[in-house]
Amino acid sequence: MCGIVGYIGRQEAAPIILQGLRQLEYRGYDSAGLAVLDRTGALQVRREAGKLVNLEQALTKAPISGVVGVGHTRWATHGPPSQRNAHPHSSPDGDLVVVQNGIVENFLELRQELESLGYRFCSDTDTEVIVHLIHHYYHNSSAGDLERAVQRAMQRLKGPSAIVALSSRHPDRLIAVRLGNAGGVAVGFGEGEMFVASDIPAILHHTRQMAFLDNRQMAVVTAQGAIFKDLYGRPVQKECVRIDWNPTAAEKGEFRHFMQKEIFEQGRSLTDTLRGRLDFQRHSIILDSLNLDAAQAQRLSRITIVACGTSYYAGLVGKYYIERLARLPVEVDYASEFRYREPLVAPDQMVLAITQSGETVDTLAALEEARTQGAFTAAIVNAIGSQAARVTDGHIAMQAGPEIGVASTKAFTASITDLLLLALYLGEQRGVLPEPQRRHIIRMLSTLPGLAGELLEEALRSERYRELAERYHTYHNFLYLGRNIHYPIAREGALKLKEISYIHAEGYPAGEMKHGPIALIDANMPTVVIAPRDHVYDKMLSQIEQVKARSGPVLAVAHADDNTIRAKVDAVLPIPVTDALLTPILAVMPLQIFAYEMAVRRGADVDQPRNLAKSVTVE
Ligand code: G6P
Repeated sequence: MCGIVGYIGRQEAAPIILQGLRQLEYRGYDSAGLAVLDRTGALQVRREAGKLVNLEQALTKAPISGVVGVGHTRWATHGPPSQRNAHPHSSPDGDLVVVQNGIVENFLELRQELESLGYRFCSDTDTEVIVHLIHHYYHNSSAGDLERAVQRAMQRLKGPSAIVALSSRHPDRLIAVRLGNAGGVAVGFGEGEMFVASDIPAILHHTRQMAFLDNRQMAVVTAQGAIFKDLYGRPVQKECVRIDWNPTAAEKGEFRHFMQKEIFEQGRSLTDTLRGRLDFQRHSIILDSLNLDAAQAQRLSRITIVACGTSYYAGLVGKYYIERLARLPVEVDYASEFRYREPLVAPDQMVLAITQSGETVDTLAALEEARTQGAFTAAIVNAIGSQAARVTDGHIAMQAGPEIGVASTKAFTASITDLLLLALYLGEQRGVLPEPQRRHIIRMLSTLPGLAGELLEEALRSERYRELAERYHTYHNFLYLGRNIHYPIAREGALKLKEISYIHAEGYPAGEMKHGPIALIDANMPTVVIAPRDHVYDKMLSQIEQVKARSGPVLAVAHADDNTIRAKVDAVLPIPVTDALLTPILAVMPLQIFAYEMAVRRGADVDQPRNLAKSVTVE
């Protein structure tokens, strides 16, 4: 969950590392630090508690000049957020530094062992055992061979870890290692300079050529290039991938927050998601990278979707799509539950992960479990080069561009759109979805980005959401209700509010309201209903009546021209009319904007909500 950046080359390392860390701050913001090899050949370390700006100020006061360095932004696991627990951590002689993303599960045992060897610990972190272990092996069994010492140390660790090590005794190299599902390690190739980072946007301004480490692989990175090996020192061939993301796509531009920018660019991101996928001649869907032909699609007996957080809610929408259009039973599971439940997985089953980052530890573990049991594994994934795209039999790239805001927005609508594409594809391949129906949905899909653009444009111009935030920001509890395909949207709407404005919110299937939540309704508990005119519209209207009868304020996501609902509720969050299958993709957008404006009004840090991180790479 932490962010790592490394640089080796001809330029000043500190500004490049800081710029990279700025792009990675969404991975953690408890503390930040960097180490640079100065012109005298000594390692200089600066570390500060709190956000990156504190480190920037420390570096302004005490700059470091040098062309090799590593930096880190932390999401605390072992030890509270403080300067002493900030990375990089140093060996006792100050000759070696290590930054880490992950968890050392056997850290207590290793710490005791190292203490008995005379090492004194200066922090509460698990990372410190790594630097001392490397130092120990370097000066003992590995006889001054840094690579060997790193390999030996990493072999002792349990749990996932990605690290970068830098030693003043080997100033020409950085060593990066990936152990387990600790999150990505991208190695970027420049001209006479090289980069290492947890995530692509951190180095995208400098290079588009990147290679990605797999489990138990290491890179020895010099200014001239990188050599890839396994943890036994055996050479590994790595493919260099060209990243086509636009570097400015990971910048805020005129927007105040990344989340705001990502909400309002959903018209464009949906265009990108659909690009190259709709065949208007044959009324088909093109999903080549899924690697699933008609015979395999026909053999499928069911699909299990595994995901976490917002991606899980996208999966719930996917269940409706796939069951309806491909006539395949679908179950949706939290990846963290699936992996520990001894699930029954059959070879004729698809286990489909949905993951923006492609690095969520539980989702990767669930895929691993499915693969071991012989299922066809697939992923709907946004991050290029991520583990989920590489370990699965097939994947669908979201093509949403980098998502930086911790609260996921455009990746959610991209995932749902991809799930609809998948349902159409399976329906066609399995011969259960007639051509006229496919043609109709494909035609409607082609209008989706335009409809999203109109909705968002109108929202950006209007004062509606700021006024609603003004009216509702002091409430402590919200209930979100939706039915059928909009039930997951209610849950996602509630999650958005909870994540960034710290207001308690529950998403519920509307039909369940009478089985509990209704007891909570009073004038202090607003209810947000998702009520477009669909086949359960009348039922939603009666829910609204029941809430109003108990003095509960009601906000409704409803069709812009729906005057019936407008007369009943306190506020309408309007959406355009389209096919019922596409409505969830539009219905979530007003809820994202509402949550965003509520958080802004409450003075919360929208892009860096407390305790959360964008990629959850530790359990
Ligand atoms: C974290 C993020 C969420 C995200 C979830 C799953 O909780 O804050 O925004 O939905 O992880 O992440 P993934 O990358 O697997 O979609």
